[in-house]
Amino acid sequence: MNKQQELKQQVALAALEYFDDYDMVVGIGTGSTVNCLIDVLPKVRNRIEACVSSSEETTRRLKEHGFHVRELNQTGPLSLYIDGADECDSHNRLIKGGGGALTREKIIAAASDKFICIVDESKMVKVLGKFPLPIEVIPMAQSHVGRTIAKLGGQPQLREGFTTDNGNIIIDVHNLHIINPLELEDKINSIAGVVCNGIFAHQKAFSTLIATDAGIMTQKA
Ligand code: 5RP
Repeated sequence: MNKQQELKQQVALAALEYFDDYDMVVGIGTGSTVNCLIDVLPKVRNRIEACVSSSEETTRRLKEHGFHVRELNQTGPLSLYIDGADECDSHNRLIKGGGGALTREKIIAAASDKFICIVDESKMVKVLGKFPLPIEVIPMAQSHVGRTIAKLGGQPQLREGFTTDNGNIIIDVHNLHIINPLELEDKINSIAGVVCNGIFAHQKAFSTLIATDAGIMTQKA
């Protein structure tokens, strides 16, 4: 197993301490770090009544492990949401959507009291934007959104052969240097045809657990 995979497993284990109540209904994100979490989730099975899932892939894995999966519309606000990220800055502002599940992830983050982000140290950055920013777009708006993004200074690239769980496309935007994440999040969301973008500045993490060679660090927002 490579070092990054080991760190993902360590941070997934560390996240279990946030399952600190009984009959919890928890939000579960998407990606390889979250897959490590799902693999150890049976350790706290007695605390979990049900999960709300951010993707079809996570739903499949949760069900494989015997967990109940509920629709967010049936649960009301969640006390806890755990998810990974593609980049994280020192204020717990994130880029997400490498797995294409950003819209459902942002909805669950917004509906949760506490969003705990789990990452290995390779995800930590000073300024967001080295990782291409994913944007979920209604298919007929692809060209319009691409042209508008280019005017903002980014290089849009269609994620070939990929359709989101919501039936939309993803445009990945390269070469952004995101000095003001709140402002850019709002600006991109205001482009007609954009469903959601992968900047999580309004929905930043409450705490980020960072797996490092020296152990797990907790970064509070
Ligand atoms: C999926 C996401 C993931 O959280 C992000 O891509 C990180 O994934 P991984 O844990 O595989 O590095 O936002 O849409």
